[in-house]
Amino acid sequence: MKIEICTEVRNLDELVIVPFFENENGISFPDGYDFPNVSKTLFSGKKDTLFILKGIDIKITFLYVGLGKETDYRTIKTALRRLTAKQEELFNDKVSIVLSEDISLDLMEAAVSGLYLGTYRLGHFKKSEKPEKDWKKLEIKIFTQMENAEITAQKALKIAEAQYQALLMVDLPPNKATPEFLANWAIEAGKSYGFKVTVLDRKAAERENLDAFLAVSQGSHREPRFIIAEYNPPNATKHIGLVGKGVTFDTGGLNIKTAGMVHMKCDMGGAAAVLATMQLVADLKFPIKVTAIVPCVENSVDNKAFLPSEVIGSYSGKTIEIIDTDAEGRLIVADGLSYLIRNFAPDLVIDLATLTGSSVGTFGYECAALFSNDPILSQNLQNSGEQIGERVWPLPLWEIYKQEIESDIADVKNYHGKPFAGAIAAAKFLEFFTDEHPSWAHLDIAGTAFGDSEFGKSKHATGFGVHLLLKLMEKY
Ligand code: BES
Ligand code: ZN
Ligand code: ZN
Repeated sequence: MKIEICTEVRNLDELVIVPFFENENGISFPDGYDFPNVSKTLFSGKKDTLFILKGIDIKITFLYVGLGKETDYRTIKTALRRLTAKQEELFNDKVSIVLSEDISLDLMEAAVSGLYLGTYRLGHFKKSEKPEKDWKKLEIKIFTQMENAEITAQKALKIAEAQYQALLMVDLPPNKATPEFLANWAIEAGKSYGFKVTVLDRKAAERENLDAFLAVSQGSHREPRFIIAEYNPPNATKHIGLVGKGVTFDTGGLNIKTAGMVHMKCDMGGAAAVLATMQLVADLKFPIKVTAIVPCVENSVDNKAFLPSEVIGSYSGKTIEIIDTDAEGRLIVADGLSYLIRNFAPDLVIDLATLTGSSVGTFGYECAALFSNDPILSQNLQNSGEQIGERVWPLPLWEIYKQEIESDIADVKNYHGKPFAGAIAAAKFLEFFTDEHPSWAHLDIAGTAFGDSEFGKSKHATGFGVHLLLKLMEKY
C-alpha cells in the first residue's frame, strides 16, 4: 500500500471514503468540495453505519462512514477495517479519503491502520478459484490539512503491518505455526527490519539449563525453540525487556484438557505480540533498546511427557513441583524472565502470556489482567490501553497470595489446585522468577488474544498487545 497526503480536495479517485461524526441536524461535510448530499433520515453518521452513493460525476462512488457522536480510536479503526474486509468489490487500485477538520491526527492513524488490517483474510488454506486481491497495489490519497499527516499515516501502516503478522502467526494452525516456524519468522524479520536474532534449539537450551522450558517440550515431537531478539539503536536511552509465551499448542499435557482444546493454537498469542512488536520498533527505528525472549514449545502428550508430581529445575536454579501439566505457560515464561533479567538486565520487564482461564473468567474478552510491582508502569500500561482500545486492568500481587504456590518438596509449585484466584496465583509464580526486578509487569492475555468478532465465523486472532507495547514505549 502507498499513501500520499493531499491538502487540496481535487482529482478525487473513483472511490472516495468520507468519515462523519453523528449529527441529528445532518452531517457536516469537509470543506473544499461539493459532496453529494444525503437526507439525515438515511444517514446521520451513526456509529457502525455506512452509506454508499454516486455523485454528479457518475464515475465516483462515495462511501460515507458513520463514527457516532464521540468516536474513539478503536471505533474508527474497526469502521475502516470493515470497508476493506467486507466491501472488497468497491476497491480498485486507488482510493481517496477525505477528512474533515474534526478528525484528529490520532483518528487518522486509526483509520489508516484499520484500512490496512481489513485486507487480512482468514482463509489461509482455502483453495478458492477466485484469486485473492492484490492489496499491495492500493494507492491511498488522504485529503487533510493536518501537520504531520504524512509521518502519522506511514506510522499507521507500520503498526498495521506488524499487527497483520501477529494475526497471521496466531491464526495459522499448530501444524504450521510450530516453534520452528516462529523461530524462522523471527530470523527473517530480523534480517528485513534490522534486529539480531539468536535461536536456541533443544541441545543449546540444555546447555543453558533452561530446564522448566525443556520439561514442557518433552512430550511433543515438535522441537522447541528459545528465541532471543535484540534491537539496539544507537541513540537508545531506555532498555525494555519483553517475554512472550509461545505455546504453539496446549493439549494440557498429561492433565489433558477436556474443554476448549480446539482454541489452544492461540496459546502463542504472547509470542506473536512480542515478535510483531520487534518488527514494529525496528521498522519505526524507535529510539529504545528492546530485548525479547520468546520461548516456543508445544505442550503435548507421549511417553516422554513430564508428569504431575515431578520436580523439575529451572534456569534460575530454583526447583518446581509440577502439580498440573496444564499450568505449562508459567514454566516457560519463568525461564524466559530469569534468562532475560540475568543476561540482559533491562530497565523495564513486561511479559505477555495467554496464561489462565481465570483471567478470562474475571475480565472476559475485552480486558487483559495486569500485574505489576511498579505503579508508574502499571498506570502507563492502563493509559496506553485506554488510548487505543486495548484495555488492561490491575489485579494484586499481595504477599498473602504467595502461600498458594508454596510446595512441601520443592522451592515452588506450579498450581495451587483451587478453583479461585488462578490468575493471581500464576502471577505470583512468575514473580518468583523475576529476581525482584523493580519494574516488572505481567499481562495475562488469555481472553484478549483470541476471540469472536464480525471479521470471522469462529474465534480468531486479535493482534492484542502490539500497539499497546508501542504506546507504552512512547511514554519512556
Ligand atoms: N493456555 C491456558 C490458558 C488459556 C485459557 C488460554 C483460555 C487461552 C484461553 C493455560 O496453559 C492453562 O491451561 N491454564 C489452566 C491452568 C490450570 C489447569 C492450572 C487454566 O487456567 O485453567
Ligand atoms: Zn495449559
Ligand atoms: Zn497454555
